Amino acid sequence: MAERCDIAIIGSGPGGYVAAIRAAQLGFKTVCIEKNSTFGGTCLNVGCIPSKTLLQGTEMLYHLQHQGKEFGLAFSDLKVDFTQLMSKKKQVVKTLVDGVAGLLKKNKVDVIEGLAEFVSPNTVKVTGKDKKTVEVEASYFIIATGSEPISLKDIPIDERQVVTSTGILSLPKVPSTLVVVGAGVIGVELASVYNRLGSKVMILEMLDHICPALDADLSRQLQKELQKQGIEFHLSSQAITAVVQPEEVILMANLGGVLKNISTNVLLVAVGRRPFTSGLQLEKAGVEKNKKGYITVDGNLRTTQPHIFAIGDVIDGVMLAHRASAEGVAVVEYLKGNRPEVDYLAIPNVIYTYPEVAVVGLSEQEAKEAGIDVMVGKSYFRGNARARCTGETEGFVKVVGDRKSGKLVGAHILGPHASELIAEAMLALQKKAKVEDLADAPQAHPTFSEAIKEAALDALGRPLHQ
Ligand code: NAI
Repeated sequence: MAERCDIAIIGSGPGGYVAAIRAAQLGFKTVCIEKNSTFGGTCLNVGCIPSKTLLQGTEMLYHLQHQGKEFGLAFSDLKVDFTQLMSKKKQVVKTLVDGVAGLLKKNKVDVIEGLAEFVSPNTVKVTGKDKKTVEVEASYFIIATGSEPISLKDIPIDERQVVTSTGILSLPKVPSTLVVVGAGVIGVELASVYNRLGSKVMILEMLDHICPALDADLSRQLQKELQKQGIEFHLSSQAITAVVQPEEVILMANLGGVLKNISTNVLLVAVGRRPFTSGLQLEKAGVEKNKKGYITVDGNLRTTQPHIFAIGDVIDGVMLAHRASAEGVAVVEYLKGNRPEVDYLAIPNVIYTYPEVAVVGLSEQEAKEAGIDVMVGKSYFRGNARARCTGETEGFVKVVGDRKSGKLVGAHILGPHASELIAEAMLALQKKAKVEDLADAPQAHPTFSEAIKEAALDALGRPLHQ
């Protein structure tokens, strides 16, 4: 007999599990279906969380190696215990995925492990690893099945020597050489990890600049900083084929117009992700996808079948965990009769390199293209007292405002703790604050946040510290 519920959520990533918790809190009888044995999806298991743990460990190493001496920290035998670093990563992942299991239980979400497929618009069949099946009937469904790495036709992935963002997180040892295809977020973050651990790292990027979604100023500066750290970049370059041999991969690539064979221990393919809808049998539910494979949704995140919703990476838009969570909450609030809104413009985007990059709102180019009479202010961390104290003087804050209304339209930070600093600009943008509000904010001294104030002052033509 089929299990009946109000809302069935397929997928337990940051979109699905957050939607499930909120749905249950709002009084819906909620089921969350997950094909993997742990909750949390890509983000917790093989994405944000493990990568940020590896980035943290290796950034500590980087600072000790490059700044230790200045601060009088002498050591003669600084070693990396890679196995321990990997254990730390596993332990952090376990704590968080167990935490999600605990939250689902506490909120009385019914969880079912197995692969869901629609058998009709109102019923899914869930097949467990033991091949046993259970049917779930629901008044509403939320598809939150996420995304998977894109692979290149002539470069087969084995997740050992030719890896995606999943395999690179579980290498058995630090490779002597690492070639990364794609200078996007995953490319630069994971290149940073292994560069700091001592691998010789090369990145190939098809375009003539890295991290294409970034404001051009930040993209250029980030590349410079990463080059200073030893990462080699080849822009306007493409990977063509790869042959795997016992200890090396031979990559044939077009490096800026010249064909070359490159030998590397490990090849990371990080050329983007695509929506994951495999096995869902969407056609049996009347749910349509667009040409790029994303599930089509309307402004309320309803698919072509009005009682079925889709959120997160499986629909078009920037692939971010916090965007998926916001959409998950918005859907269940909508089903409760509330009028939620996801403020897409105020969703920040972070790259956890050193220095970090964090952006929110429109870039200078986007603002100009939107016909805004742009005012721009900048503040460099080399002029920030706190950054001087910590020795993290690379980078800047760039504030973009609308000269006519005075409102903030975007903020772009490349520098220390940018991931945390962006929160102030995000709130300012969400609350439609003016650049002047940021300039008037009384910041504690000495803090990195003063750089935001200073950039806002600069945009208004009254800088104090530059
Ligand atoms: P991406 O879209 O950020 O970057 C892919 C890069 O590969 C682009 O620069 C593209 O021009 C390049 N490229 C594509 N095909 C190529 C080829 N054949 N040869 C050379 N270069 C090629 O994708 P990425 O880095 O794989 O990340 C996937 C998604 O995961 C992103 O949408 C990102 O938002 C999300 N993510 C977010 C993180 C964060 O918030 N910190 C961390 C990691 C991933």
